[in-house]
Amino acid sequence: MCGIVGYVGHKKALPVLMSGLKRLEYRGYDSAGIALLTDHGLMVAKSAGKIARLEAMIGDIDYNCEHGIAHTRWATHGEPTQINAHPHTDARGEIALVHNGIIENFRAIREFLIQQGFTIKTETDTEILVHLIRFHYRGNLTEAVRNALAQVDGTYGIAVISSLHPGVIVAARMGSPLVIGHGDGEKFVASDVSAMLEHTNRVVYLDDGEIATVTADDYNITTIQNVKITPQVEEVSWTLDQIEKGGYDHFMLKEIHEQSTTLRNATRGRLNYEEGIPRLDGLNLQYEELRRIRRIIITACGTSWHAGLIGEYMIEELARVPVEVEYASELRYRSPIFDDHTILLAISQSGETTDTMAAIREAKKRGATVLGLVNVVGSSIARETDGGVYIHAGPEIGVASTKAFSSQVIVLSLIATLLGRMRQLSVQQGQEIIQGIENIPAQVEQILTIEEEIKAIAAQYYKANNFLYLGRGINYPVALEGALKLKEISYIHAEGYPAAEMKHGPIALIDQNMPVVVIALKDPVYDKVMSNISEVRARNGQVIAIATEGDTEIANHVNHVIYIPYTSRLLTPLLSIIPLQLLAYHIAVMRGCHVDQPRNLAKSVTVE
Ligand code: G6P
Repeated sequence: MCGIVGYVGHKKALPVLMSGLKRLEYRGYDSAGIALLTDHGLMVAKSAGKIARLEAMIGDIDYNCEHGIAHTRWATHGEPTQINAHPHTDARGEIALVHNGIIENFRAIREFLIQQGFTIKTETDTEILVHLIRFHYRGNLTEAVRNALAQVDGTYGIAVISSLHPGVIVAARMGSPLVIGHGDGEKFVASDVSAMLEHTNRVVYLDDGEIATVTADDYNITTIQNVKITPQVEEVSWTLDQIEKGGYDHFMLKEIHEQSTTLRNATRGRLNYEEGIPRLDGLNLQYEELRRIRRIIITACGTSWHAGLIGEYMIEELARVPVEVEYASELRYRSPIFDDHTILLAISQSGETTDTMAAIREAKKRGATVLGLVNVVGSSIARETDGGVYIHAGPEIGVASTKAFSSQVIVLSLIATLLGRMRQLSVQQGQEIIQGIENIPAQVEQILTIEEEIKAIAAQYYKANNFLYLGRGINYPVALEGALKLKEISYIHAEGYPAAEMKHGPIALIDQNMPVVVIALKDPVYDKVMSNISEVRARNGQVIAIATEGDTEIANHVNHVIYIPYTSRLLTPLLSIIPLQLLAYHIAVMRGCHVDQPRNLAKSVTVE
């Protein structure tokens, strides 16, 4: 949510910042801006709209400067106009600042600044911060930032430059991620490593409450209270190909197609077939401790929450441990009950979602052991949890989550099997599940070969205004996720429902214009789902069924069938979700939507 990039070094800053900014565009894309330190002082350019507009506005002016900051915005305070875009500057145009987060007490600070004679030009919470830095400026930029931040409540990742301090970037973090990148005689500051990956993979993650003073050759980190920090330099394993489209039209399509690989990566080295036990060393829990768990609360947002719901079915059935799944934004405010035998499992692709982080902190305050299921290595959630499992899906750039979801689900199946083997599952049962898990990547590959069939179905329904998704049991959360994918990227109103619940409301909506996607697999509730399909058909609804390979009979009762290979019931979400992702993707493309950057959404939600 909002992308920040800063550069100081020996290269021309403009192209470095522009390409970094484009890598961060998934974080927000309603307006963008840049500040460069030229021989004539600060040059600031800002534009409403996507980064391409900013680029067009700057044109081919060859700025000969090696120092600057840039920003791509997801508006919170003030519309996404040119004036509200970052960077914001002080009245003399000597200090420029970019910000990610929310200054909660900005109204009080605004009043204070107005009393001090400052003029505020924008509706943003950010602008006041640059004036506050100016207010505290006595010749030392870092100290001015430190004193200003001491007055601020809220969250921030900021980068500040000043024409009074050529070659210096001051960066600070509280709740919004910031990374410093080390190149040879150059340094980067960014919201995430993808902005600097083409130059360096050596990084230092700032922690909350830290301020960094960065120059081309050096950097110095202190806390806001001015205690010196000894930073740890880490090497990021992501490669440049992973953050490029690689010939696909969209990142989302690339990421859908990567799933057979990412699912293999999520389980690599973790399947001990001999003993029928997954190995998850990162949990940092001995078998004895795993056996003591009596209750699990899973918390997450968005797609990760849907993965959590699937995890609930898996863990309760395989391990007989009660699971509750809570939206992180709800859990944090409802005085959750934890005891020594309850674990909080937080699921987050980015590892930066503010609500999920806040739920973790609340649980920790109450003494809970907190585990994380995270994709981004070194992210805030990965660092704040007591243990966890990385899903190793690689960078996910498309705003609508696909490969991270399937990897979360497969890792949840490992956790469920591990907990199950600590309790009721035999070696043989463990082995059967592991065998099923091993087969999944090839089965996903098989489903991806029928993309053209799915595209043909999309062509028939892309003009629909509403969609209903139905599923039962462990495929009910898949129905929710299928509906979410469609609404996120195509803006078609879509709802997921437990199939049997349909008659308690949504059935009223069904007519010949309502496509209904039904997950109708050969499992113990198959006959019941078929009855639900009849109810839809009796009202002229158009049914698209996701069915088990070999079920030829179903074709007589529905308008379209998409077949997926057979797997054991608890693993079916890993396959049933794939056609739903493709269906949403192709519908959105046919509607001319911007699939990778859907309106109003952002990938990493670092505001409440
Ligand atoms: C945003 C994204 C979703 C994501 C959710 C949770 O809403 O657009 O794709 O599922 O945040 O993000 P997380 O990184 O915590 O999984």
